[in-house]
Amino acid sequence: MIYQVYPRSFQDSDGDGVGDLAGIRSRLDYLVELGVDAVWLSPIYPSPMADFGYDVSDYTGVDPLFGTLADFDALLERAHELGLKVLLDFVPSHSSEEHPWFVASRSSRDDPKRDWYVWSDPAPEGGPPNNWVSEFGGSAWELDEASGQYYLHHFLVAQPSLNWRHPDVRAAMLDAMRFWFERGIDGFRVDAFHLLVADEALRDNPENPDADAWVSPARRLLGTHTAHQPETHAAGVAMRELADRYSPERVLLVETHANLEELALYHGPELNAFHLPFNFDLLTREWSAHAIAAFVDAYEASLPAGAWPNWVLGNHDISRVASRIGPAQVPVAAMLLLTLRGTPIIYQGDELGLEDVPVAAGDVQDPWELNVPGLGLGRDPVRTPMPWVSGEGGGFTTGKPWLPFGRERDERNVALQAARTDSVLGLYKRLLRLRRDVRALTVGAYRLLGSDENVLVYERGADEGRVVVALNFSDERRDPEAIPAGATLLLSSSSQRGGTRTAPSRLEPNEGVVLALASG
Ligand code: GLC
Ligand code: MG
Repeated sequence: MIYQVYPRSFQDSDGDGVGDLAGIRSRLDYLVELGVDAVWLSPIYPSPMADFGYDVSDYTGVDPLFGTLADFDALLERAHELGLKVLLDFVPSHSSEEHPWFVASRSSRDDPKRDWYVWSDPAPEGGPPNNWVSEFGGSAWELDEASGQYYLHHFLVAQPSLNWRHPDVRAAMLDAMRFWFERGIDGFRVDAFHLLVADEALRDNPENPDADAWVSPARRLLGTHTAHQPETHAAGVAMRELADRYSPERVLLVETHANLEELALYHGPELNAFHLPFNFDLLTREWSAHAIAAFVDAYEASLPAGAWPNWVLGNHDISRVASRIGPAQVPVAAMLLLTLRGTPIIYQGDELGLEDVPVAAGDVQDPWELNVPGLGLGRDPVRTPMPWVSGEGGGFTTGKPWLPFGRERDERNVALQAARTDSVLGLYKRLLRLRRDVRALTVGAYRLLGSDENVLVYERGADEGRVVVALNFSDERRDPEAIPAGATLLLSSSSQRGGTRTAPSRLEPNEGVVLALASG
């Protein structure tokens, strides 16, 4: 299981209200106890923080806000002692406008680094070269008055897109990855990879016929000429080659926002690109047993032979799962995430069942919300600090936290939940332990046994045995037909079952169960 830490909000060690590396190090025991295998840290590099670290001004350093390289080494060393792997976030598609490369690039049309970024003359009639839009609102092009040319930015104006067609850019970025591999990291989560290379002819993107289904103004257009361009894949293969040179144990996760067909491509033709192209489907799919059953089958069928699946319920960019589906369904979601075939990826705080925290207009930090306000696109509500204990500071900081806590600080914090096995945290721990102990759950094949609107029942099987998972998506009791007879109860999300080992024939409202089948 991979656990995403959002460093600004995990643990502050110096009282500045922003989490840091020494803070993370001091909380590693919590992650071990939870059952984490690998920790992915959102960006820790030097950055003006226009997009909170996703605007990198030095790919081989640590921002003073988070600490020093020595702090990083200490964190890595301690993590490894505890048996935890550490993945860094790598942001190859764009840098900060303050990166020395871009400073040089924009300094003149003749600068040797000019072509390290994507520059274009204005359209013949003036204005931006084409209709491409930024993910964060407005044109994807920004005019540089001094040189009279536009540069491309798929996100903020402060995040110019690097030109991956330039061999020196490719070499420099692979060098940056090498720098961290040499320090001993176990892999990367690669950011916004689908936008790495854009159409060379700069053709306009077509209108999106489904634009109404999206809140974001950026979805007005399809990404036909900006996303998933064929040239992207060579870069994925190069990154994989580099990782494999260090060890086959190194892992690459990648953000691509791809459909199933494209996801298969990100695994690479010979499984020679990314190990884990993020499967983001559960972030947006209708929360019904039917819809999910259909997707799991489609995803399993789409994977190239030998590819390994992954599952994501939340991250730092999207409304918390507890807010999307309601707190009552959180245990069902946890059981789904941790019993499907593949690597689960948990966003910090989801193991507490945290909900989105309302952030008052005056406290807004997220540039997306500031750019296109009032649409509910802001990501601050999911980036608020981890509540460790009750009371001011929540155990997160002795200062003023950079984003406010919600009421959950005193109602659902780690200390309160750790004291109870029937908490969401307790359920996550029990499920993660079971996943490790029961081989069918770790590596076993997936097979759908039955689903209707309300109940999903599936089997995971390995040579050593089979388990059945039954999930009740409704708030009423259900009698699923697909539960095989003669099973024993391994785990229920309902505290009412006590210590019984008898498999239930009916499910309580919002209940999920894991059952063992007698072998033979
Ligand atoms: C990715 C990150 C997001 C960031 C964007 C630009 O989507 O997850 O947080 O704002 O890339 O780097
Ligand atoms: Mg700090």
